[in-house]
Amino acid sequence: MKKIVVLTGAGMSAESGLKTFRDADGLWEGHDVMEVASPQGWNQNKELVLDFYNQRRKQLLQVKPNEAHNLLAHLEQNYHVKIVTQNVDDLHERAGSTQVLHLHGELFKVRSTVDDGLIYDWKKDLFIGDTCKNGNQLRPHIVWFGEAVPLLDQAIEITKQADILVIIGTSMQVYPAASLIHHIKPNTPIYFIDPKPNVDSTIKNIKVFAEKASVGVKKLNDILKNMTI
Ligand SMILES: NC(=O)c1ccc[n+]([C@@H]2O[C@H](COP(=O)([O-])OP(=O)(O)OC[C@H]3O[C@@H](n4cnc5c(N)ncnc54)[C@H](O)[C@@H]3O)[C@@H](O)[C@H]2O)c1
Repeated sequence: MKKIVVLTGAGMSAESGLKTFRDADGLWEGHDVMEVASPQGWNQNKELVLDFYNQRRKQLLQVKPNEAHNLLAHLEQNYHVKIVTQNVDDLHERAGSTQVLHLHGELFKVRSTVDDGLIYDWKKDLFIGDTCKNGNQLRPHIVWFGEAVPLLDQAIEITKQADILVIIGTSMQVYPAASLIHHIKPNTPIYFIDPKPNVDSTIKNIKVFAEKASVGVKKLNDILKNMTI
């Protein structure tokens, strides 16, 4: 079976009702991202950061995977599909995708502020005073701006294996995620789905669908059906 690697960004979940932030002038649900998604923001106002992610967790419990998530999950019947997502939501998993790597962390997990290895599943609110087993404050298990991306090497290895690369709903402005495209094997076909595609003109073998995710993934599906597996 051919290996399809799918890189997804916030636009993937837009049709489920989760806002992207480039579409809102760099604000994420009304907040400056540096206030709520950076170590500086955390040091300045932990309550604000915790409250922001508490709201995101509540919101995530109320939304569902969209048609594009479902179609990608369905592709596993005929292809080896690996998803590398910048999204912190769990909508790929809920749609049924089994191979999902969360480059920027997961909303439904928290971790110790002292020991990175102490990670807990967490669907409720998180408050000051909630601690790990060693008594240290917990924080959202999210890669904030300016922090290292621990799963980057794994994401690069996955990207290198692609026979087909699909990119959906990302502004290609957040690094190092945006650099993954440069790790494909030569001549790997790329499909880029985004209503406002930001494509580097030096990239070869790229077919752009300037569409929302559900429409673009349907088009991709039609193309794949006509390819030999
Ligand atoms: N759902 C989430 O988990 C979520 C939501 C907002 C932000 N974030 C975080 O913000 C960072 C943002 O980087 P990014 O590049 O992923 O997002 P971004 O906000 O920078 O860019 C979003 C992209 O999605 C496109 N888009 C908008 N509606 C779309 C649709 N219906 N279908 C397809 N594409 C659509 C936009 O044109 C844009 O290019 C990531 O690190 C991510 O962790 C995550």
